[in-house]
Amino acid sequence: MNLPRHVAIVMDGNGRWAKKRFLPRLVGHKFGMDALVSLIDACQARGIEALTVYAFSSENWRRPDEEVSGLMNLVLLGVARYLERLAQSGVRIHIVGDRSVVAERVRQAWAQAEARTAGNQGLQLNVAFNYGGRWDVVQACQALVRQGCPPEQVTEEALARHLSLSHVPDPDLFIRTGGELRVSNFLLWQMAYTEFYFTDCLWPDFDAAELDKALTAYALRDRRFGGVKDAAASPRA
Ligand code: FPP
Repeated sequence: MNLPRHVAIVMDGNGRWAKKRFLPRLVGHKFGMDALVSLIDACQARGIEALTVYAFSSENWRRPDEEVSGLMNLVLLGVARYLERLAQSGVRIHIVGDRSVVAERVRQAWAQAEARTAGNQGLQLNVAFNYGGRWDVVQACQALVRQGCPPEQVTEEALARHLSLSHVPDPDLFIRTGGELRVSNFLLWQMAYTEFYFTDCLWPDFDAAELDKALTAYALRDRRFGGVKDAAASPRA
């Protein structure tokens, strides 16, 4: 089966999952985190090289204070509970997003996760946290300007080298759970030729079987990257 090298996921639907069970939204996020840990194992088992997940968007600050601080605490809990296990399984963790406005204790937890897994060669796990696709393009432009890059050297390649995911190929497959059909300011630049897969499944229910459905759908896609099928065989003008 034709497998994506890099899968990117918007993990949507935690709140609705909790509401259906008369539970607080934060409980949904907690189950969402457990679903993520299981999915990391499933991706590794299938030989996927990179997984990028949207854990907290630049727009999520608009949520009630209690939910925002609950999500921050979940980072600390997740690192305390799962980092060692993930590290031993070979996962390499990268945090992508604007850390400058995130609380010091959260920054420290991310730094610990990155340092502990820095030597690993397994699945590249990119956790997008306080991330926005537009922010990413802007921060890459700022880096070029800061280096004194002349305008004619502002190329797609130069910009891409400064984007947050320069260490992995662009995503082949984008998955969004929870039934919404939008990108929500995720990897805007990197998803130019990504295949999209949307499912009504709520994130805490997204398990290995759901992943396999997405992978099967992906394997049936005909990716042409703007070209035509069998381009090598077609006559040139
Ligand atoms: C969207 O569901 C989900 C989020 C904003 C948070 C995603 C976070 C996790 C899966 C937890 C693991 C991540 C870390 C490291 C904190 P929603 O709340 O928008 O759900 P709804 O659309 O049903 O309300």
